[in-house]
Amino acid sequence: MAYLIGMDVGTTGTKALLIDETGAVRASATSEYPMYTPRPQWAEQDPHDWWHATVDALGRLLQQAEIKGDEIMAIGLTGQMHGMVMLDAKGEVLRPCIMWNDQRTAAQCEWIMNTVGRERFLDLTLNPALPGFTAPKIIWTRENEPEVYAQAAHVLLPKDYIRYRLTGVYATEVSDASGTVLLDVARREWSAPVLEALGIPPSWLPEVVESPTITGRITAEVAEATGLKAGTPVVGGAGDQAASGVGTGIVEPGLVSVTMGTSGVVFAYTEEPSRDPEGRLHTFCHAVPDRWHVMGVTLSAGGSFRWFRDALGLEERNVARLTGVDTYEILTAESAQAPAGCEGLLFLPYLTGERTPYPDANARGSFVGLTLRHDKRHMVRAVLEGVAYSLRDCIELFRDLAIPVNQVRAVGGGARSLVWRQIIADVFGTELVTINVTDSTAFGAALLAGVGAGTFGSVPEACAQTIHIVDRVEPIAANETVYNEYYPVYRSLYRSLKPASDAIAAIGAR
Ligand code: XUL
Repeated sequence: MAYLIGMDVGTTGTKALLIDETGAVRASATSEYPMYTPRPQWAEQDPHDWWHATVDALGRLLQQAEIKGDEIMAIGLTGQMHGMVMLDAKGEVLRPCIMWNDQRTAAQCEWIMNTVGRERFLDLTLNPALPGFTAPKIIWTRENEPEVYAQAAHVLLPKDYIRYRLTGVYATEVSDASGTVLLDVARREWSAPVLEALGIPPSWLPEVVESPTITGRITAEVAEATGLKAGTPVVGGAGDQAASGVGTGIVEPGLVSVTMGTSGVVFAYTEEPSRDPEGRLHTFCHAVPDRWHVMGVTLSAGGSFRWFRDALGLEERNVARLTGVDTYEILTAESAQAPAGCEGLLFLPYLTGERTPYPDANARGSFVGLTLRHDKRHMVRAVLEGVAYSLRDCIELFRDLAIPVNQVRAVGGGARSLVWRQIIADVFGTELVTINVTDSTAFGAALLAGVGAGTFGSVPEACAQTIHIVDRVEPIAANETVYNEYYPVYRSLYRSLKPASDAIAAIGAR
């Protein structure tokens, strides 16, 4: 039997997942680490923490599975995207990683778009510079930490730092590289004109390959520390979203995934690079060689529901403690007692600002339309519906670009709720399915390892052999009609409330 490992260097911890060639999960081990917020809106992690977690998780994985290192055919890496890991010429970490959710670089983004020219930048990279992305973080370091910048010799993404520690090789792959906004996403190579305009030395960037390509091999030292076999191949892998796209089987036209974590990500496969003229969607290289994907992000999806549970669900939390039933289950059961459309109560889920379709850190959450008729059941349901409307905003952008949406696959914690899945199917007006895979990100990385090692002939073949549908939810026509009436109202609210959100943010900043 051939075994494959997917390693996910995530935001809260590193997960190692072991699968066999049929896609069956044989073992999994996670090791956690902290995130630091030295100032409001900053988010940093110590790359050494990721490394220690990687060694720990790999060692425990092999022990748990009771298999020997030489039975592992290959390893695929994935992880949080966009983070900046800056190394000196000896490969030593120069400062903590500035992470994907760090918001310090608004001024640098503006500088980048003005320096290159907005239209030219969008033509070259297919995306605007956003505060989470890597390039503005490099510029921020140049402006704010010149002594660090002066020693820099390499810039890596989080999973690629782990690759360097595992194999000694500096490399990345096209999907994660897309999120730096330094890649020519259409040509799948670093953009020389962007690097030149921004004054970033091309020599700092690693070689960029297609996702299933073998980039290096496990060193003798790492083999000693983990139980892996020296020489085990490590493939390019993918950024967490493209890896999850593979792990969900989004590898042909018409398939779309909705990942319901803290944030909600709507992801579609495309045969060609498909660009939203206003840059509201991300257009990145897919982990399928020579293919692309588009995605939109609702920053507070599961995060909105968690906020409601923590801020307003005290009673339900107490019941959960007494009965052993999960608080979310109690809340979704309550929401099912309110009618579709919540009798006119709408919720805007912009609790942490928004990314798609409004890249706006000032956006705020709201309940709109409250009357004496409304109680808590309506309010929970409004939260679930508001997130679904926000995800539909991404689906509408796909439809504007003529990207087909035939089947939506729901993954992530939020997708466990049948009530929420039904709401999403009704709001989208499409069939919503769930699949056999739970850890789609690490699973996708393991499949990419399998393609690199020759266990599978191609990425779509790997998906076809291991991923299948386990449940289907069809839209209910009557609910669809109600949601189609409220959706334009929901859509109008962001603009109506924008002056108030900006004023609130300005007062808060004083
Ligand atoms: C993708 C994104 C997140 C991070 C962390 O654009 O910002 O998915 O990769 O998970």
